[in-house]
Amino acid sequence: MKILFVGDVVGSPGREMIEDYLPRLKQKFSPNIMIVNGENAAHGKGITEKIYRGFLNSGAHVVTLGNHAWDKREIFDFIDNAKQLVRPANFPEGTPGKGLVFYPYRNTEVAVINLQGRTFLPPIDCPFKKIDELIEEARKRTSLIFVDFHGEATSEKQALGWYVDGRVSAVVGTHTHVQTADNRVLPKGTAYISDVGMTGPYDGILGMSREAVLRRFQTALPVRFEVEEGRKQLSAVLIDIEDKTGKAKKIERILINDDHPFFV
Ligand SMILES: [Fe+2]
Repeated sequence: MKILFVGDVVGSPGREMIEDYLPRLKQKFSPNIMIVNGENAAHGKGITEKIYRGFLNSGAHVVTLGNHAWDKREIFDFIDNAKQLVRPANFPEGTPGKGLVFYPYRNTEVAVINLQGRTFLPPIDCPFKKIDELIEEARKRTSLIFVDFHGEATSEKQALGWYVDGRVSAVVGTHTHVQTADNRVLPKGTAYISDVGMTGPYDGILGMSREAVLRRFQTALPVRFEVEEGRKQLSAVLIDIEDKTGKAKKIERILINDDHPFFV
């Protein structure tokens, strides 16, 4: 099976890229399941029900989140009914929503897990302990297991990749918004990349307004960040997995922007 995963969608420029390119990527690569990280989709922070539904309408099957999961208040009104929405599984017990969802595929299912790192991010439950529990739970139903690990430090993301090598089909990093060139299949069959990269403004700083970010660096004063305007990009990966074993065969990077044009 093939999984297409699109990295952190930032604001309306990112949403427009999903609308424009998700159908085209589907046509070009024929993925069986398409997953989108939507934690920055509403003005750069959080997600609304309308945006979540919009992703599904564009062809996404599952939407993952991260540290901005709760930034739009209305999430609390719809997360428990949003069956294809997954938030970091290692948030404290009792947190609304789910950290593991199953999506049907042929005569089995794909398990989609979202986890969040703890290095340079708020202290939450241990992602390493949590992933052990989730793998055990998922394996009762399927060997196809996909993990979006939302983290700041490449070391923590690599550590988790090696920790679960051979036990899940893929670990893809999100959150740092810059695509890393370390995509590979680890020796026991887990596809890995430290960060898939961001989908949104191409000429901003991690998607936000250059001017505002520069002002923050230069003055150290509080600055309100807005999503940058202008040219856009999309960052994704395509993962090829053996149906029977759940082992990955290949992970390819996809980057679409004016310097890397899309070819059908
Ligand atoms: Fe994030």
